[in-house]
Amino acid sequence: MAKSTKTIDSTEIRRQIELCGKLREKLRSDERRLLAMVDTYGCQQNEADSEKIRGYLAEMGFGFTQDEFSADIIVVNTCAVREHAEMRVLGNVGALNHTKKARPDQIICVCGCMVQQEHMARKIKMSYPIVDLVFGPHELWRFPELLLEVLVRHKRVFATEKDDGSVAEGIPLRRDGKVKAWLSIMYGCNNFCSYCIVPYVRGRERSRQPEDIVREAEQLVAEGYKDITLLGQNVNSYGKDLDRGVDFADLLRMIDAIPGDFLIRFMTSHPKDATEKLFKTMAECEKCARHLHLPVQSGNDRILKVMNRNYDSATYIKKLELARSYMPDLVVTTDIIVGFPGETDEEFNDTLKLCEKVRFDAMFTFIYSKRVGTPAASMPDPYTREEKQAHFDALTETANRISGEKHREYEGKTVRVLVDGETGRDEYNLSSRTNGGRLVHLKGDPSLIGQFIKVRITASNTWALYGETENG
Ligand code: SAH
Ligand code: SF4
Ligand code: F3S
Repeated sequence: MAKSTKTIDSTEIRRQIELCGKLREKLRSDERRLLAMVDTYGCQQNEADSEKIRGYLAEMGFGFTQDEFSADIIVVNTCAVREHAEMRVLGNVGALNHTKKARPDQIICVCGCMVQQEHMARKIKMSYPIVDLVFGPHELWRFPELLLEVLVRHKRVFATEKDDGSVAEGIPLRRDGKVKAWLSIMYGCNNFCSYCIVPYVRGRERSRQPEDIVREAEQLVAEGYKDITLLGQNVNSYGKDLDRGVDFADLLRMIDAIPGDFLIRFMTSHPKDATEKLFKTMAECEKCARHLHLPVQSGNDRILKVMNRNYDSATYIKKLELARSYMPDLVVTTDIIVGFPGETDEEFNDTLKLCEKVRFDAMFTFIYSKRVGTPAASMPDPYTREEKQAHFDALTETANRISGEKHREYEGKTVRVLVDGETGRDEYNLSSRTNGGRLVHLKGDPSLIGQFIKVRITASNTWALYGETENG
């Protein structure tokens, strides 16, 4: 059993599902089906949480809409990772004034990482009176109970207490797609990188029991999902809080052993915990995608130290060399922050040098954003926004050039892809992904969606590859 992980008893979740039935009665309208809109910001973890919110809403009898005027309930699932994300959320929540004026019976809920910060919960309370319910990630499992409270007591409800978090099994899920699925294997983060808000809003690392994860994966395969992404802020520390002797590599093997034709992806890995055992396991597991998203954040050792990342650039490069020795065709992507407090031109240049050396297939680049309550927020930050922007532009140029060059290497080759959707355009109407996760546009019949097929790559640019199906 879990050593330090708080679990929500399954009877508690069953009680929440029963409450959904009560809500269904209470909300029932004879004229029409009630509709819900769930608006999600932030990372895949939040997407996965929104699938649970939709699961509960479906149990309550709601249908779904993307139109805020036709929605009877709106749930905004927020992100706090950068200021820009918060600004977008606040702008969009503010805009709901119009819809609520048009229909005062509308229920507006704001949940997720942003409101788990005390100052943001307060801001919503004081400045956004249209919001009826606010709850943080730790309270998601009891969303039905909280909503019932809003409806019965006709009061605004705020549930954003500080908490280390828990693991709850059995929450109903309503998944977005039919081909690709998210599978959370753990929650929270213990790393406290000095710039990052996530550990404060998502609590401590908690792993789900391996059996629960394998069961969910089996179900996904049985339902026909072909691409399963295992989610966690740092999947490499999976299992450390459980007394089970199962680490992330072991878990990969357990999922790989499920019969069927499907791909296993995962994100995110922290470089400090990426081990040879993981690389060897990836190489040996036939279903494990040859893709590693390994955020480096910076190429300079002083910056990495003050970021509290616990590795240096040489260690990072060595780990990637090791990974590539096991998987020569490995696709490597990363995250980088520019303009960390005090980062000089020379220190930034080390990041550029690292990128030239590693040659990432794709890079997600961010300008440092100050987060209230993190150690970096009180570090001297003498450089101007313009100086940081210049570094950001230089990095983007390098990233785009290298991606373009890497993509060109695919031209003329035949690769296996999973067709995952339609693009809405005539010429290349289907989108697909290679085993390594590169985007391939092609022309073909929509019945190919959900199938693995061979395509010949005929063209490419920085962002995507273009291909033809083997038989024309
Ligand atoms: N757990 C993941 C990352 C989650 S946040 C990991 O450690 O790899 C996703 C990315 O956002 C981070 O990798 C980082 O590059 C970026 N990020 C996090 N906090 C930030 C901040 N305060 N300012 C700018 N970028 C940030
Ligand atoms: Fe944030 Fe670092 Fe945790 Fe990633 S590992 S979520 S960057 S604290
Ligand atoms: Fe944002 Fe929370 Fe994810 S802060 S990036 S939604 S964990």
